[in-house]
Amino acid sequence: MASPANTPRRAFVIGDPIRHSRSPLIHRHWLDRAGLAGGYDPVAVSAADLPAFVASLKDGSSGFCGGNVTIPHKEAILGLADEADATARAIGAANTLWLENGRLMATNTDSHGFSANLDDVAPGWDRGKRALVLGAGGASRAIIHALLARGFGAIAIVNRTEDRARALAERFGPRVTAHGMDGLQALVAGADLFVNTTSLGMGGSDVPRIDFTAMADKALVTDIVYVPLETPLLAMAKRQGMRTADGLGMLLHQAVPGFEKWFGVRPQVTPELRRLLIADMEAHA
Ligand code: ATR
Repeated sequence: MASPANTPRRAFVIGDPIRHSRSPLIHRHWLDRAGLAGGYDPVAVSAADLPAFVASLKDGSSGFCGGNVTIPHKEAILGLADEADATARAIGAANTLWLENGRLMATNTDSHGFSANLDDVAPGWDRGKRALVLGAGGASRAIIHALLARGFGAIAIVNRTEDRARALAERFGPRVTAHGMDGLQALVAGADLFVNTTSLGMGGSDVPRIDFTAMADKALVTDIVYVPLETPLLAMAKRQGMRTADGLGMLLHQAVPGFEKWFGVRPQVTPELRRLLIADMEAHA
């Protein structure tokens, strides 16, 4: 163990830069609500310093029992942990670390966060079979993994750079297909779920007009981008009367498994926590 049993447990979030991370707000809120004496610290770690940081975790000298990993280390950490679970390996990235009998374990909780959020705010979201995922970056990989696990039979990746979509489709097998942006509207027709993973429309870039009403009955439009809470695509879907779900809940739910590993208590995603995050986003807008 990293620290004697009677000293408060401490977890971290590492990244570069790290000061924008909202993870400390979430985990400190849960520590407070659970009345635990533990800590959760943001630590700036450069790519060059990552191996030394990992060594200090494994030999116990850091004093941390585990933590979160964010940009740009989510992929590199896989090669440094002693064991990455099947989810992290399938996604090709990890965001959560913990020590188990002196071994550094890694998983990825983004897929869980995506599904758990929709279970919460849009029950039945996974009844459909056809999904469209806009974007083919790191976040898209976690979403596709989640959709496959929930039984979606046809997942279309639509991306500006079609080659990136193709590389993802090949990674995930025959249920996943790759398309360029010109295929977007045809693929929207009849889809049960639309997931945006891109910054499309933000910072003044053009948003293609999408007719979401062509989707299947009871279809859901969701975004994993949560700044702003109502992205240009969600606003367009709402104006068309569609059922929508914003991306903030995914951030909150992806944090649950890590907190439980480090501190031994399963925390709750509550309206109070959501309000806390929204207030922080407004304060830093
Ligand atoms: P992340 O890890 O957050 O998914 P990323 O790997 O940088 O981030 O991927 C960003 C995704 O948003 C990509 O699919 C990107 O498309 P490209 O692969 O063509 O770069 C997409 N994206 C970003 N800005 C976009 C825009 N203005 N229009 C369309 N797609 C955009």
